[in-house]
Amino acid sequence: MQRVRGVRYLLVAALAAGTVGLAGCGDDGDDASSAVESAQSQAASIQSQVGEQVDSALSQASEQVDSAASQIQSGLDQASSAGEQVDSAQSQVSEAVSSAVESAASEGDPAAGKTVFMSAGCVGCHTLADAGATGAVGPNLDEAKPPAALVVERVTTGKGAMPSFAGQLSAADIANVAAYVSSVAGQ
Ligand code: HEC
Repeated sequence: MQRVRGVRYLLVAALAAGTVGLAGCGDDGDDASSAVESAQSQAASIQSQVGEQVDSALSQASEQVDSAASQIQSGLDQASSAGEQVDSAQSQVSEAVSSAVESAASEGDPAAGKTVFMSAGCVGCHTLADAGATGAVGPNLDEAKPPAALVVERVTTGKGAMPSFAGQLSAADIANVAAYVSSVAGQ
C-alpha cells in the first residue's frame, strides 16, 4: 500500500514540475528555470519522504512477522508442556492402578483363596498340584508361577479363553485366590 501511494506522489510531483515548466515558457527564462528547480527539489523531497515511508512500512511488517513467529513458538511450547502433563498424569494413574492391584493381592488370605479356587471353576482349566487340579485348557499354574498381581488381573478381566470372574467373585475373593495361587504354585 505504502509503495503504491509513494509512486502516486512521484507522478503528481512530475506532473507539477511539467506544468510549472510549461507555464514558465511563456515568461522569461529565469522564472521558468527557477520554477523547474523548485519543482525538482519538491520532487526530490517527496521522493525521500516516500523512501522513508517504504522503509517504515517494511520495518513494521518485519516486526509483525517477528511477533507472529514468537506467538507461534510460545503456542508450540504451551502445547508441548500440556502434552508432558498428560503423560505424567497417565503414568501416575497407571502407577496408582498397579499399586492398588498389588496391595489388593497382598492383602488376600491364602486359605480362603483355596476354597475359591476349588469352587469357582479354576480347577477345570488349570493344573495346580496343591489343589489337586489337573485342568489343561489354560496354562499349568505350577509352571507359570504367576505373581499375585497377575492372578488378580486375569481373574478380574479375563483373557482369551479365560472368562472374567468380576461378576461372580468379590474383590476379596479375587484377592484371596490370588494370594493362594501365588503362594502355592510350583510347590
Ligand atoms: C474356561 C477356562 C478357564 C477358567 C475357568 C479359568 N482360567 Fe485362568 N486361564 C485360562 C486360559 C486359557 C488362560 C490363558 C489366557 C491367555 O494368556 O491367553 C488363563 C490364564 C490364567 C492366568 C495367567 C497365567 C499366566 O502365567 O499367563 C492365571 C493366573 C489364571 N488363569 C488363573 C485362574 C484362576 C485363579 C481361575 C479361577 C478363578 C481361572 N484362571 C479360571 C483358562 C481358564
